[in-house]
Amino acid sequence: MLDISNLSKSFFVSNHEISVLSNINLAINNNETVALKGPSGSGKTTLLNLITGIDQVSSGKILFENHDITLMDQANLSKFRRDNLGIVFQFFNLINDLSVFENVMLPLALMNLNLTKRAELAQTVLKSLNIHHKANVRTNLLSGGESQRVAIARALVTKPRLIVADEPTGNLDKNNTDTTIDLLLDSCKSNQTSLIMVSHDETLMRRFDKVYELNSGKLI
Ligand SMILES: Nc1ncnc2c1ncn2[C@@H]1O[C@H](COP(=O)(O)OP(=O)(O)OP(=O)(O)O)[C@@H](O)[C@H]1O
Ligand SMILES: [Mg+2]
Repeated sequence: MLDISNLSKSFFVSNHEISVLSNINLAINNNETVALKGPSGSGKTTLLNLITGIDQVSSGKILFENHDITLMDQANLSKFRRDNLGIVFQFFNLINDLSVFENVMLPLALMNLNLTKRAELAQTVLKSLNIHHKANVRTNLLSGGESQRVAIARALVTKPRLIVADEPTGNLDKNNTDTTIDLLLDSCKSNQTSLIMVSHDETLMRRFDKVYELNSGKLI
């Protein structure tokens, strides 16, 4: 499904080139769950931002079903994300002026479904993440762990082809981490969704099909 080859990324900071990722090769198959680990600053979020087209590669290719996303313009990238991806950001990126329910409904707005069906899907996913009792609350009033569950609900609700999740359980207690990971992995298996997820939690990683580590810009 996703095939990354010879990918490198550098940033320029006051005319100095800082190489963050060098010559990364990574493939994610249909239905596969992949965990990504590595020390803070090793480039995990940077790699996810390249996969989602939020940031641009310095060199290399990212093929999603044989379409190179590094060659897409902004309009095609938006369409690619809308049609294929669910994204859980490290710092949630919820829309604070909207309620929990409205945030989770948002990605469904562009799909060809009637309002009743969309509301039903949003309710179901909020319920499965045990956050439905906050449905009408504005997201800036939520705790970190509650925000995290809403962010996961928003990524799951469209049953995407690929979920890209950046430490989606970083703010959760052990109980909520376990139930959330169960739900994420079960949903991926039953919806035939692939998953790439950043985590520092070694016990979680055993449950993934593959584990990669980023270190000094290289993938091992
Ligand atoms: N826009 C940018 N401009 C310059 N440097 C950047 C930029 N974005 C990221 N970096 C640098 O790239 C490196 C990797 O950052 P990244 O956020 O990918 O790390 P990470 O592995 O996700 O870390 P963490 O586990 O702390 O979230 C860091 O040294 C960071 O300072
Ligand atoms: Mg990060």
